[in-house]
Order: sequence, then structure tokens, then C-alpha cells
Amino acid sequence: GGGGSEAKPADSGNAGGQQAAASGEAVTLKVGHTLADTSHYQVGLEKFKELVESKTNGSVKIETFPNGALGGERDMIEGLNVGSIDMVLSSTGPMSGFVQEVTVVDLPFLFRDADHAHKVLDGEVGTDLLAKVESSMGVKALAWWENGFRHVTNNAHPVTKPEDLKGFKIRTMENDIHMDSFKAMGAQPTPMAFTELFTALQQGTIDAEENPIPVIMTSRFYEVQKHLSLTRHFYSPSILMMSQAKFDALSPEQQKAIEEAALEAGKFERETVAEMEKQYLSELKSKGMEIVENPDLQPFVDAVKPVYEKYEPQFGKELIEKIRNTQ
Ligand code: PAF
Repeated sequence: GGGGSEAKPADSGNAGGQQAAASGEAVTLKVGHTLADTSHYQVGLEKFKELVESKTNGSVKIETFPNGALGGERDMIEGLNVGSIDMVLSSTGPMSGFVQEVTVVDLPFLFRDADHAHKVLDGEVGTDLLAKVESSMGVKALAWWENGFRHVTNNAHPVTKPEDLKGFKIRTMENDIHMDSFKAMGAQPTPMAFTELFTALQQGTIDAEENPIPVIMTSRFYEVQKHLSLTRHFYSPSILMMSQAKFDALSPEQQKAIEEAALEAGKFERETVAEMEKQYLSELKSKGMEIVENPDLQPFVDAVKPVYEKYEPQFGKELIEKIRNTQ
């Protein structure tokens, strides 16, 4: 992992935090994310805020910054180590540049459904991966949250088979596995920060993108994309991360409150994703999107086999099998 070792410890910011904790003044933590203020991320973070503030009797306050107000995911993750931001809710998408191991969860068609993903992430595999994030990035990885199963949208035609992706310039996250997967399915992946995506779709500099239903709805992609295919090619988890220096500056009671609140609010956030997925599918239809609800996924699964061949040696066949075999 690169980011952690190169980053400077946030000494000056930390000292302020310690003083505040010792003097009984409230500490305010700024948490950023790139999604809309109506999104599942924001709903979850508002729950987190409520829980932290009540569990710490108001001695820790949470301030949320949606819409990429504090930057794109990669920039915010970097900001944790330089002390410019306290907390980030980010998908694992842009994490390949920081800690490659964690991106095993980004492999295509790895998880059967959300329950399967939750079992893996809340079990030994997920706990080990959070520990790797902490040791290689020097940040506090509090809990697995969720973005959801990703689906392809575009403005040209319905996608029912991999061949339909041919020639599409599709925006992907800045993630090698995601890019390799779309190459294998015949598209031209174009990595880009989420904060630039809406404009790129509007201006037609790219043809397609892929995101979970709650993102397509709350980021209003239905305004610039006609077709949605429920390809569920990647499960996209997210991690609530905190600056280690800011965490260390808190009292043990405050730390415990934050850890508990991260888990509780994470559960609530996952439930929100499930509700939004159901509700927003019909809303996207009424907004005029044409939706392929049950594409035959087998040809897509077959197309990405080379991605497994490439990454198996890196992650280890055993780990991938352990994930697949989790019931
Ligand atoms: O497409 C992305 O970049 C991610 O799904 C998002 C929306 C930033 C959520 O983590």
C-alpha cells in the first residue's frame, strides 16, 4: 500500500483534538461522501450522527458533507492522512491504489446476493480486510457499509448480452478489476471520479456508466440515461473510515461510542439500500427509463472468466473460494 507510508501524521490537528477532549469541549468530526443529500449514504450518516451524539452525550458532534463537497473519494481518502478531513464513507472502488488486497470484493459476480455479501464482510474475511486497510493505510476502518449491486446504464440501446456493450465508452471507478471486467465484456472502460460523471454523461463524452439503483435515482442519472439493465455485475461495499490521529485523540468511551455507532448505523444503512432498491426501480420506470429487469447473466459471467485468471494468483484461490462458499 502506498498512501499510508507516504502520508504525514496529522500532528497539529491531533493536538487540538486532544486538548478539546481533555477540556470537555465538544469535538466536531467532518465526514464526507460523494453522493446526494437524499442518498443511502446520507441517510446512514444522519443515523450515525444521531447515535454518536447521543452515545457521547454531545461530546462528539458529527457534521456531514454530501455531494463531494470535500472532494472525490480518492482525494478524501488521501485527506484522512494529511488531516484535511476526519471521516470518509467511500466505496472500495478507488481503494486499489492504496491497499490492493481489499479489492478482492470488487471481483465481478462474486456475491450471490446482499445477504451473502453481508455474511462475508461481517465475518472473518471482512474483519481481516478492514485490518489490512488499517495497517497499510494508517486509517481507522470502522465498519463495512453498502453501496449495492451495480447495473449498467446507457443512452443508446437495451443491454441484454455482453455484445451490446461493444464500443461503449463506459465510465468505471478508478479500479483495475472494474476496468479489466468491462474490457473483458467488450466495452471501453474510462475511469473517472464520480464527481465528474453527471456532466460527462450529459455532454456525451462517455456513453454508459454503472451504479446501484439508489445512486441512479438520487444522482438523477435518469435525466441523462435512457436504458438500465440489471446486470448486477459487481457488489459495491463501502467502508466508513476515520483519521487515525483524530480517533486516537478521543477518550476510550468516545472511541467505543463511535465504533458501536458505525456498526449500528451501517446495519440501518444496508436496510435503507434494500428499501431504496425496491422503491426506486419503479420510480425510475415512471421517470421514463427502459429497464431490462432479468437479463441472462450467464454470458456476462462467462465473459469475465479471464479476470479471475488474472487476479486469482494475486488474491489466492483459497480466499476466493472461501468467499464463494460462505453460506
Ligand atoms: O460510482 C461510484 O464512484 C460509487 O458508486 C459512488 C457513487 C461514489 C459511491 O461510493
